[in-house]
Amino acid sequence: MLRRLYKDQPESFAFTPANQAWAEAQITKYPEGRQQSAIIPLLWRAQEQEGWLTRPAIEHIAAMLGMAYIRALEVATFYFMFQLQPVGSVAHVQICGTTSCMICGAEDLIGVCKEMIADKAHALSEDGKFSWEEVECLGACANAPMAQIGKDYYEDLTADKLRDILTRLGQGEVPVPGPQNGRYAAEPLKGLTSLQDYDSGRTQYNASAALATDIGDTVKRIDGTEVPLLTPWQTGSGAKSANKTREPRPAAGKSADKTGVTEQEAPATSTAKPQSKEEPKGTQADAGKAGDKEGALAAAAAGKPSVTAATGEGAKPTGLDAARDGGADDLKQIKGVGPALEDLLHSLGIFHFDQIAAWGGEELAWIDQNLKGFKGRASRDNWIDQAAILASGGTTEFAARVKKGDVYE
Ligand code: FES
Repeated sequence: MLRRLYKDQPESFAFTPANQAWAEAQITKYPEGRQQSAIIPLLWRAQEQEGWLTRPAIEHIAAMLGMAYIRALEVATFYFMFQLQPVGSVAHVQICGTTSCMICGAEDLIGVCKEMIADKAHALSEDGKFSWEEVECLGACANAPMAQIGKDYYEDLTADKLRDILTRLGQGEVPVPGPQNGRYAAEPLKGLTSLQDYDSGRTQYNASAALATDIGDTVKRIDGTEVPLLTPWQTGSGAKSANKTREPRPAAGKSADKTGVTEQEAPATSTAKPQSKEEPKGTQADAGKAGDKEGALAAAAAGKPSVTAATGEGAKPTGLDAARDGGADDLKQIKGVGPALEDLLHSLGIFHFDQIAAWGGEELAWIDQNLKGFKGRASRDNWIDQAAILASGGTTEFAARVKKGDVYE
């Protein structure tokens, strides 16, 4: 298939400030002289922002990376994941037409796209909301036929199911991705024939559908303000610049105050009243107060991870003297926080999901650098993202397993 730039191009392209900061931070991942290696993530972020890759976007990114335009154009035209023409404002639908899907009904799905969207692939629907294309195997053959819509897979489709999904997307809903015929994952249609205990550990959705639901990227355009712009490979000023444009956003069910910060996102303060005179773990909460360069925790008992003083990079998170009324959240619901790390966080005055969700890059850098034996874990496991979901009343697949008692005794 010939992949050319679209005939009508906008005058210019600019990343949103948050996406620009994210892009600049990505470039720092690569050693001096190898910055061009960031071409794919940057093109991808431009597409996430605009829906498709425009010529000005490709040129803007080439300039950022010091590349000849033609080199960036070669990448953009080579990979089919890059859309070189406008896509639907709601969603671009990719129907798998390879063998398994073809045998199981992909042609019917393509028929629905022709009927509901446009007769030709890559053309916009009349209302501009949808576009579609046929793609090669997307690796979900056991759930054929399937389609990728936005970032998610809708599997075990029928023509009627796809019609329903497109109708609901057009009305502003985002149907839950994953199998659409009642199957949990990719087990046999008539149920499990082995490993039948697996059934007892089921969460509401299979891991991939749960993750898609948790993340909620689905068909959204990404302006960079809804995702952390953290750059754990950076230290000091780079991390700061990557995060300084992160803006507060209202969390589910909470309205923002006049500063735009919700209660859930407001930085934790140490002015909260202690629940009781007895501080958790003796004087460890004191050790976690801002400005305490010692970080000398009583929890540094043998075998336990310990936090040492910040060494000028990052900022120690502000802690509370004690958990708020109602008690501490179960921080072990955050993947990567086991019982020992939960104790350690308590000793720093961190008891609640919203405290972690409110960390910026500096706090994260400090935590990353000072968890001896667990360096970098907070970034690697995306504690802030997980905590934000849990603080807003949502759940994650891992948290569901913890609550069920599947992870810890
Ligand atoms: Fe359709 Fe593999 S053949 S996902």
